[in-house]
Amino acid sequence: MASPTEIVAMRRALELAARGAATARPNPVVGAVVLDTSGAVAGEGWHQQAGGPHAEVLALAAAGDRAAGGTVVVTLEPCSHTGRTGPCTVAVRDAGVRRVVVSTVDPTPGAGGGADALRAAGLDVETGVLTAEGERVNRRWLTAVRTGRPWVVWKFAATLDGRSAAADGTSRWISSPESRADTHALRAASDAVIAGSGTVLADDPALTVRDAAGMPTGRQPLRVVVDTHGRTPAGAKVRDETADTWIATAAELGTDPCGHVDLSALLRELFARGSRVALLEGGPRLAGAFLRAGLVDEVVAYLAPTLLGDGLSAVAGTGVATLGDAFALDIEDVRRLGPDVRITGRHRRTPSSTIVEV
Ligand SMILES: NC(=O)c1ccc[n+]([C@@H]2O[C@H](COP(=O)([O-])OP(=O)(O)OC[C@H]3O[C@@H](n4cnc5c(N)ncnc54)[C@H](OP(=O)(O)O)[C@@H]3O)[C@@H](O)[C@H]2O)c1
Repeated sequence: MASPTEIVAMRRALELAARGAATARPNPVVGAVVLDTSGAVAGEGWHQQAGGPHAEVLALAAAGDRAAGGTVVVTLEPCSHTGRTGPCTVAVRDAGVRRVVVSTVDPTPGAGGGADALRAAGLDVETGVLTAEGERVNRRWLTAVRTGRPWVVWKFAATLDGRSAAADGTSRWISSPESRADTHALRAASDAVIAGSGTVLADDPALTVRDAAGMPTGRQPLRVVVDTHGRTPAGAKVRDETADTWIATAAELGTDPCGHVDLSALLRELFARGSRVALLEGGPRLAGAFLRAGLVDEVVAYLAPTLLGDGLSAVAGTGVATLGDAFALDIEDVRRLGPDVRITGRHRRTPSSTIVEV
């Protein structure tokens, strides 16, 4: 059983892991603390970016000789494979560490198995310490790896009565400059930004991150247009040079029963291309289809203090006919952005709407 000192160290490792939230993608966030033989903190580390050193390696380097005979406390099972960096299990073993305390087990085929490898090398390994917290800090990545599709965040802007466009079709700038700046931060925190052909034809959005300071990885997310028949015009902004774009068509992905692009195939392909977090920017019909297929994990709603009465509803075609079937959210954050209110909620999964694998 983990000691009180190890629990405190795990809480610290979880804090360290969270620092990588904006930069570690497509890798998981990981934090590590090395305790010396007396239980004092000898080193700390967190995984900053893919291709960079892993948290355990940094913490061991910081601990130096004090790691020998000590304990590594780490939020995710140390990897046992050689990717862009060497296996962490070898670094842990070579440092002479006696015990390893892990929060969540790595579900990645090929990368997991680190705990068993360390046990086989004679170390004392304990997994499942503060698992709920470990799951939470990495929930996007863990969901992606377990389901074979990216974690999907659906973002929309609407009036207080849930309208995303007026009756005459005007929809730009429903939300405030503060909300729009926040949207760019959401894009920067995603591997892919998805829009439907309807939105691209109506609004010609660029779908890029335009505030470079807010793009910690320095990488533009992949722009994805879900466009069954490939109607995106040659001169559309999404086709410019500022970022990579994928016009995802039925010819490539097949169709769903309604004759539109198969969304499960779309997400499978995005995962294969390395996406672990995808931002769905609508519009209403595509968002409705994602919800209906159970493929929305998180919702970010920007609500402007205006009322339209008529116009396009924020989401359409969900297939919900009665209140009991409504998609329920667990609200995780509510804040003011200029005149608007931003609500962030997580799709509440019930036994009949579990997280969908694709
Ligand atoms: N306020 C906001 O946050 C916001 C955000 C986005 C858009 N909008 C507004 O929404 C309006 C456009 O609405 P919209 O509903 O037409 O846009 P949309 O949801 O972006 O596009 C819908 C189109 O996506 C295509 N599609 C491809 N695969 C699909 C699938 N599996 N399921 C459903 N659709 C699929 C369909 O056309 P094909 O099958 O022919 O490809 C469908 O007609 C614009 O006025 C825009 O300004 C507002």
